[in-house]
Amino acid sequence: MTFPKGFIWGAASAAYQTEGAWNADGKGENIWDDFCRTQGSIQNGDTGNTACDGYHRYGQDVHFLKAMNLSAYRFSINWPRILPEGRGSVNEKGLAYYDALVDTLLENGIIPCVTLYHWELPLALQKQGGWLNRETAEAFAEFASVIAKHFNGRVRNYFTLNEPQCFIALGYAQGLHAPGLMLPVHEQLACMHNTLLAHGLSVQALHEGSSAPIKAGLVSTGRLCYPAEDTPENKAAAKEATFALHEDDWLFTHHWCLDAAVFGRYPKDAPPSLRKFDESVPAGDWDIIKKNVDFIGVNIYNGRPVDRMGRDVPACPGFPRTAMKWPVTPEVMRYGPIWLHERYGLPLYIAENGQSCNDRIFLDGGVHDPDRIDFLRRYLRELKKAAQEVPLLGYFHWSLTDNFEWHQGYNERFGLIYVDYPTQRRIPKDSAYWYANTAKTNGEDI
Ligand code: BGC
Repeated sequence: MTFPKGFIWGAASAAYQTEGAWNADGKGENIWDDFCRTQGSIQNGDTGNTACDGYHRYGQDVHFLKAMNLSAYRFSINWPRILPEGRGSVNEKGLAYYDALVDTLLENGIIPCVTLYHWELPLALQKQGGWLNRETAEAFAEFASVIAKHFNGRVRNYFTLNEPQCFIALGYAQGLHAPGLMLPVHEQLACMHNTLLAHGLSVQALHEGSSAPIKAGLVSTGRLCYPAEDTPENKAAAKEATFALHEDDWLFTHHWCLDAAVFGRYPKDAPPSLRKFDESVPAGDWDIIKKNVDFIGVNIYNGRPVDRMGRDVPACPGFPRTAMKWPVTPEVMRYGPIWLHERYGLPLYIAENGQSCNDRIFLDGGVHDPDRIDFLRRYLRELKKAAQEVPLLGYFHWSLTDNFEWHQGYNERFGLIYVDYPTQRRIPKDSAYWYANTAKTNGEDI
């Protein structure tokens, strides 16, 4: 049994996490450039100022994509590299960098899949309120339009926003990520609403700006529950628990965001305090937010096993965990896509999945990461089962190279390609060879 014919095998990255060159060639600052300067915000005082130096070494990265038989690369465009002030004048040198990257990908037969927003909000816009300010959505549409026109015919696959759930929860509610705010719930709801407006406006701008056909969707993450036992009752309970909404746990759900983007409304069964916000939404907003999307991107790292009453099943002592201490729960890769497809009826990409390991260079010069291979084999086996039931378009491994893991700095390594930061030397890990074979055989051997 293989994955569907034409299944895309890819790898993903994000601009701030990899590019470096934070102030090169006319780039404006983003909120992470600023946040990393705040003492105590990032472990070890790390910054993305140099990161993997992808700005200068993208050629090597494309080489690895090709060597791993991958057919697509998901990367983000650093918004203020193109529009240093967030809107207005365009920085041609910034566009030139992405021209070089996109053209190198195309020359190597790799499909460029652009994420417009992987958290690189221009600092100038944050100074005017960032996602709390409705005008940020209009600025984002302007950015999307510049990109669509410039890459017309070359880029045909767009992810609008990466994980609104995460950047609002971590950046605007918990203060762990840029811009480091801890806003009250009604303002978190407003931030989410403005990002949804940004999504809708950008889908429209992408279509208007491209004369060549394009496909677009957004990338969601959130709570996914799966049945601890494979019985019909337990499955129904797991699905219900996935789409449950609680006053203190609405942000990290898929459906607060996706119901809005796909159905043009917030979930009907929201608790009263959330419904109050819903009632204040101007009716015209739903025409802006609800746009036909071609797919949903889903980022899945782990899920929650529940019993047939939908209650969390506590993990056993010593349960399997990654280096970042995230639980290893492969079953979520089967049930998560099924629940999301049943609710939204759209094709799906796994836009991110992977694990962080304590990788290092061994005495023999290799980087041996059997944990990651085992993790991928387990998760992809489950994904293969899901692929028999729902339309799955592809899988992007997170990440192509090791990179800057947000407030955890360089402590965590998620890459298939090891980065030796002092020298910027790249070394394919054992998992890279394994993944190359998986891509080549369309997952036949898993
Ligand atoms: C984000 C990535 C991040 C990964 C691992 C995802 O939520 O999109 O940027 O590196 O998780 O934490």
